[in-house]
Amino acid sequence: MKSRHIKFIVGVVVAIYLMAAGSTLNPKLYKLLEEHEVAPYEEPMGLDSAKVELGQALFFDRILSGNKDVSCATCHHPGLNSGDNLPLAIGVGGEGLGTNRVMGPKRERIPRNSPEVFNRGAKEWHTMFWDSRVSGSLEVGFVTPADEKLPEGFDHILAVQAMFPVVSRDEMRGEIGDVDIFGKPNELALMSDAVPQSVWRQLIHRLLEIEGYQQLFKEAYPLVPQDKLGFQHAANAIAAFEIAAFTFTGSPWDRYLRGTNEALTPEAQRGAMLFYGKAKCGTCHSGTLMTDQQHHNLAVPQFGPGKDDAAPLDVGRYMETGLNSDRFAFRTPPLRNVTLTGPWMHNGAYNSLEDVIRHHLDPEDMLRNYDVDGLPPELSATYKGDPTVVERMLRYLDPFVKSMPALHEKEINDLMAFLKALEDPAAKDLSHLVPDQVPSGLPVETLHPVDKSY
Ligand code: HEC
Ligand code: HEC
Repeated sequence: MKSRHIKFIVGVVVAIYLMAAGSTLNPKLYKLLEEHEVAPYEEPMGLDSAKVELGQALFFDRILSGNKDVSCATCHHPGLNSGDNLPLAIGVGGEGLGTNRVMGPKRERIPRNSPEVFNRGAKEWHTMFWDSRVSGSLEVGFVTPADEKLPEGFDHILAVQAMFPVVSRDEMRGEIGDVDIFGKPNELALMSDAVPQSVWRQLIHRLLEIEGYQQLFKEAYPLVPQDKLGFQHAANAIAAFEIAAFTFTGSPWDRYLRGTNEALTPEAQRGAMLFYGKAKCGTCHSGTLMTDQQHHNLAVPQFGPGKDDAAPLDVGRYMETGLNSDRFAFRTPPLRNVTLTGPWMHNGAYNSLEDVIRHHLDPEDMLRNYDVDGLPPELSATYKGDPTVVERMLRYLDPFVKSMPALHEKEINDLMAFLKALEDPAAKDLSHLVPDQVPSGLPVETLHPVDKSY
């Protein structure tokens, strides 16, 4: 009697399991996904483990910075979900990590937010940076700020990107007259901005003076003689590490796209229907990467030092194209793990993801009523809320966001549930990626446990 009972229960459980596994995706949502050409994310293949190992060392090694005080990980730390938790990044001369990071004397913030670098290994990527100033592909070639000075031999656009933080004075290179953390002159800072090749040459020279790197380069590039190595080889290795470390395809959404209907809660399914339907998010956050890789002016509040000739404003893509439609326009960010990567927008204007959604639904109202209290005081003092700036930003507002629908609270909650479903639980704690030491012997940035409570 008892065993029959158990058999019955087991039978029911199996039947339910089969029903679930065999069920198809919500047909309405499935249709929307087809229309938006949303396919499951394909993991990039063929990463070379020797390159990944070299790249990991380089990513965490402050030897790549002029003053030996900043590494890629300073602003894209695994313990901070590949970002820095700051609205605007703090580069050369800064101290500390994450929200504890403070600026050095007489330095300015980096004009933009450090983006997360999740899933950048996909073959579909053809833009880098908030203004896509690096763009192109292996097939058609790359457009970059270095023009013809860019060497050849890149594996991926991500490797091309890695050539630029090291030449940027405020991110890694430093200013003329700087001394490094040992009090020695910063030789990288003395080189002309017009000749990035000298910086790249000096950096590979720096690296190959270190025994640990000689070995790592030899393992990663057994066929390239040492005197033929350039910084592009370092950049390819950094990209290989970024792809190995920061590719995540285990979010409920990714599992859903691979056919597991029950991976999404009913709220998240409703959110997905809104995202690709009524709320029109999928028009710009489109395709598998959730970005059209185009630029849109959403009238995100302006603050900070501003960028290049437009300072104290940051006019975004306009600096690259000179087109009115690109004024204040920034590249649509991808959204995988977005719940982990605040503050959000190209300058970290919002600490709340709900505010980000509300901003999209009514940019004008959110811009006019922007509350600077969420910013660090030194940044709120730089807020450009005067009517001339506000009116100018609104004049060039992306036409598409002028027609966003009004949503009920419940719909916003459903969208939030969808954004939450883009989070891979495995991406939450990445502290295992931080090496104990790097070949230069310079200290590696690790998170004080307190930082994580952010
Ligand atoms: C001082 C902080 C800082 C440092 C150091 C830094 N980055 Fe960044 N990173 C940023 C900021 C800010 C941006 C966005 C800049 C922009 O769009 O104008 C960015 C953009 C990127 C992007 C572009 C992502 C995308 O999709 O557009 C990648 C990839 C990246 N960084 C990797 C690196 C690597 C690799 C290094 C080391 C060689 C590095 N970063 C060093 C702050 C930093
Ligand atoms: C017109 C194109 C467009 C539409 C439609 C759109 N977005 Fe965006 N989204 C962007 C752009 C561009 C940014 C960055 C703007 C900036 O920083 O200046 C952005 C930023 C975001 C961010 C912040 C991501 C980050 O890493 O900082 C989230 C979250 C987001 N959008 C979600 C949504 C949702 C949800 C919807 C639908 C309600 C939506 N978007 C509709 C273009 C769009």
